[in-house]
Amino acid sequence: MIPVTRSVLYLDGLSVSFDGFKALNNLSIDLAPGELRAVIGPNGAGKSTMMDVVTGKTRPDEGTALFLGSHDLTVLDETEIANLGIGRKFQKPSVIETLTVEENLELALAGNRSPWQAIMQILRPQDHRSMNEVASRVGLTDALDQLGGALSHGQKQWLEIGMLLLQEPKVLLVDEPAAGMTDSETLKTAELLKSLAGEHTVMVVEHDMEFVEALGCKVTVLHEGRVLAEGSLPHVSSNNEVIDVYLGR
Ligand SMILES: Nc1ncnc2c1ncn2[C@@H]1O[C@H](COP(=O)(O)OP(=O)(O)O)[C@@H](O)[C@H]1O
Ligand SMILES: [Mg+2]
Repeated sequence: MIPVTRSVLYLDGLSVSFDGFKALNNLSIDLAPGELRAVIGPNGAGKSTMMDVVTGKTRPDEGTALFLGSHDLTVLDETEIANLGIGRKFQKPSVIETLTVEENLELALAGNRSPWQAIMQILRPQDHRSMNEVASRVGLTDALDQLGGALSHGQKQWLEIGMLLLQEPKVLLVDEPAAGMTDSETLKTAELLKSLAGEHTVMVVEHDMEFVEALGCKVTVLHEGRVLAEGSLPHVSSNNEVIDVYLGR
């Protein structure tokens, strides 16, 4: 029976085993519409595996994963899930270095158009409008003519977030965006993700505690495939188990 939920993402009792090792062990998390949620936890805690389940890359052995209360993510394939409006940004940027920022954005838009429009490279007026809006949103208006390869690491990450936004996702899953960023890039990224919440539901995995603090949102701490603690950053930071397995190392 499908549970009644208003959550955008509802994960309950998820377990995933790899050769008998439980990467997820009875994991439950749910995200409200427009919520921004940070997920932290030591390496190997199951953070990426959780995102793999949500995007259909990995099938759970047990448990429930629902999108908008009615779409069963454990039976849909990756394309179907992406088309429902769940977008994921991986840790390593996949920006094409030999194309300009603008061309990279065009490529992301092509995903929304018919194959014929994509082949003909027909950009409608609203495509230019949304590309410019997105470029401004991610702080790349002045870099539209630059090659992807010439961007700083932070700019590449923002471009990739922009490329995701052009696909108008309802949910954004962002895995370790601040890794390798300078302090000022890290703070800008936190501001960007905060600005996306409300309109989008955003789940961000990150290790950088200053970044998590800057997000100022509810935090879920994972450990050994399950939720160890959940709440505000001050709340989870004062949890003794969290200090033992994560913060105190
Ligand atoms: N495809 C896989 N095959 C085997 N083991 C995996 C696979 N994916 C992840 N794992 C293991 O599952 C555990 C959780 O990994 P992961 O979800 O990547 O952790 P995190 O993202 O929190 O660092 C790790 O011990 C990892 O080695
Ligand atoms: Mg990971």
